[in-house]
Amino acid sequence: MTPTRRTLLAAPLALAACDRFASAEPTPPNVPPLKPISPAPFGTAIKALQIDDPDWVALARANVSQLTPEWEMKMEYILANGLDRPNFDRSDRIAAFAQAEGMALHGHTLIWYSQGKEAFASLSGAAFDRAFDGYIATVAGRYRGKVRSWDVVNEPILDDGSGMRDCHWSARYGHDGYILRAFEQARAADPEAVLFLNEYNQESVPAKGAQFLKLVERLLKVGCPLQGLGLQSHLWIDIQPGVIAAFMREAAQFGLPIHVSELDCTLRTEDRLDFRSQAERLTAQSARVAELARAFAALPRAQQFAFTVWGLRDTDSWYRQGDKDDGKDEPLPFDSFGRPNPMAAALAAGFGGQ
Ligand code: XIL
Repeated sequence: MTPTRRTLLAAPLALAACDRFASAEPTPPNVPPLKPISPAPFGTAIKALQIDDPDWVALARANVSQLTPEWEMKMEYILANGLDRPNFDRSDRIAAFAQAEGMALHGHTLIWYSQGKEAFASLSGAAFDRAFDGYIATVAGRYRGKVRSWDVVNEPILDDGSGMRDCHWSARYGHDGYILRAFEQARAADPEAVLFLNEYNQESVPAKGAQFLKLVERLLKVGCPLQGLGLQSHLWIDIQPGVIAAFMREAAQFGLPIHVSELDCTLRTEDRLDFRSQAERLTAQSARVAELARAFAALPRAQQFAFTVWGLRDTDSWYRQGDKDDGKDEPLPFDSFGRPNPMAAALAAGFGGQ
C-alpha cells in the first residue's frame, strides 16, 4: 500500500511520540549475566509451565545454574489426590529439565506447617507416624541423586518471633521433635543431599532471627543432621541499613553453608502511606539487595551454598499474581521482557563487594 501524504506526515509525529514514551522509561542497566558473577551457584524458583516458555528458558540458561521448584514439589501438590495417590508429574518434569540443562536442583520443601493438614487429618498414632516417615522416604528417596539439597523443614517460627509455630506436626511430635524427625528421615532417604532449615524475615524481624538462631543451636546440640541454613530473604525496602548484613554474620557463626533461598524485594510497603516515587523505591531496593549480596559474598567460600531469587522476571513473581498485583511492583532482577532491572545491577555490585 502506497503511504498517503497524511501517513507520511503522521509518521515522524508518531515516532516522536514513541520516543517520548520510550525516553520516559529508565534505560535498563547494563548488567552481565548473573551466573558467572555470583560467588556461588545462582538459582531461581521454577514453575513447570516455564519450561514451555522459550524466553524464560533462554533467560534461565544465561543466568542460573540451580533451580528450586516454586510449588510443584510441595506436599500441597504431591498429595492433592490424597496420601495414597502421590502426584509427581510436574516435579519429575522439573527434575528432568534441570538434569538436561546441567542445572542443580534444590528440593523444596518436605515438611511445612502450612501444608498436609487435610491429607493427614484422618490419621493418628502409628498410622500418622508411618505416613509422616513414609512421605519423606518416598519423596526424598525419589529424588535421591537428582537433588543437591533439600529444605527439609520450612518456616517453623512464629511471625513475631515469640516462639515456635503450633501445627499438626508439632501436635504429634513437639515443636523441635517434628523437625528432628523430619531431618532424620530425610538423612536416611538421601545420605548425599545437603539438608536445610529454611525461614523468612530473620533479618527484618530481629526477634524472629533470634528465635531461628536459638532453634538451630538446640537442633545441633541434640545431633540433628541439620547441614545448612536457608535465609529466604523476601526483603522489604525499609529494612534498616546494616541489619541484613548483621544477621548474615550471626547465622554464619554456626559454620554451616548458607543459602539465600528465595530473594525478592517488593517495592510495596503495606503498613503505611508511602508517597515515594517508583525511582525512590527502586533506590531503596537496590541498597538492600546490594547489602545482601555483599554480605553473602563476604562469607567464607565453604559457607556460600547458593544464592536463589524467587523468580527471574517481575511477572513471574508471586507478588504479581492475582489480586495482589498492582502492575507496578519490580521485585525481581528482570522486567517482564527479560531486561535487567536495577535489582540485577545491585546484585552485580554487591557480588563485586560494592
Ligand atoms: C510461594 C509461591 O511463590 C507461590 O506461588 C505459592 O502459591 C505459595 O508459596 N516461602 C516459601 C515459599 O518457602 O514456598 C513460598 O512460595 C513463599 C514463602
